[in-house]
Amino acid sequence: MRRRHRRVVFPALDAVTPPLLDEVWRPLVEEHLEAGSPCGWFEPAYQAAVARGARLPWHEGAAHPWLVDWLDAPVHTPPGRRALVTGCGVGDDVAPLVAEGYEVTALDIAPTAIMWAHQRADERGGGGDGTVAWRTGDLLDLEASLVGAFDLVVEIHTVPWLPGVVRDAAMAAVGAAVAPGGVAVVITELATSEAERSRLPGPPWPQAPSELAAYRAGGLVRLALEHPPAESEATMEVRGTWQRPTGTDPVAPPVRPLPTVG
Ligand SMILES: C[S@@+](CC[C@H](N)C(=O)[O-])C[C@H]1O[C@@H](n2cnc3c(N)ncnc32)[C@H](O)[C@@H]1O
Repeated sequence: MRRRHRRVVFPALDAVTPPLLDEVWRPLVEEHLEAGSPCGWFEPAYQAAVARGARLPWHEGAAHPWLVDWLDAPVHTPPGRRALVTGCGVGDDVAPLVAEGYEVTALDIAPTAIMWAHQRADERGGGGDGTVAWRTGDLLDLEASLVGAFDLVVEIHTVPWLPGVVRDAAMAAVGAAVAPGGVAVVITELATSEAERSRLPGPPWPQAPSELAAYRAGGLVRLALEHPPAESEATMEVRGTWQRPTGTDPVAPPVRPLPTVG
């Protein structure tokens, strides 16, 4: 007899969806960081959100408006239509890329996020039907087939949710996915002063502006770093565009850091 799979009911992400309580997801972060697994908490956090009909703290229910704006008026036009979304979560940033005619690979470490994203795309009628490659995978252990394979790489708010020990590796992997001539669009949170940065509880841990040098170290050239004017908060959201110059090969991503022993 064929076993029937129960269809998971994923929460709708609208104005009435409650956030997953800090008391539920923050202990997962601590537990996994202590165990030397900096990204291990995302999957149980997604599972907890689904079980409780809740949203995760980063869920907006729509594509990031700065990505939509970038696609309307690119800082630099990508040389082709192969796009990668790193840490795609529930996939809301995939839809505008599909609408612009990109062939999208959407990567996330959490299988539940990928299932949720796939189902949302099915419901919307864009990207669930085979036009998007939904991939469960680890950015910190980037598959060789993804290196240098994309004209456009979109990274939105994954890095600030990772602890310092793996951030350079994550940014290097974002850069490594960019093909010669291709571009990376990165939206992240920067701390406006080091003092403020150390006061803020994380995750997310806003990035120090100097951390962005990791993209340059990976062979990318910065074309723009944009943010709204007159920011007076401790952190500010920024949108950066980097390019891998034509004729230069992507640098292989670094080896994943080993957990502490003993
Ligand atoms: C803060 S969320 C942001 C999600 C989405 N980009 C957004 O802006 O809504 C970070 C996402 O990155 C994923 N992630 C974390 N570490 C990862 C890794 N090493 N490789 C791939 N995805 C990862 C998480 O599962 C999560 O979906």
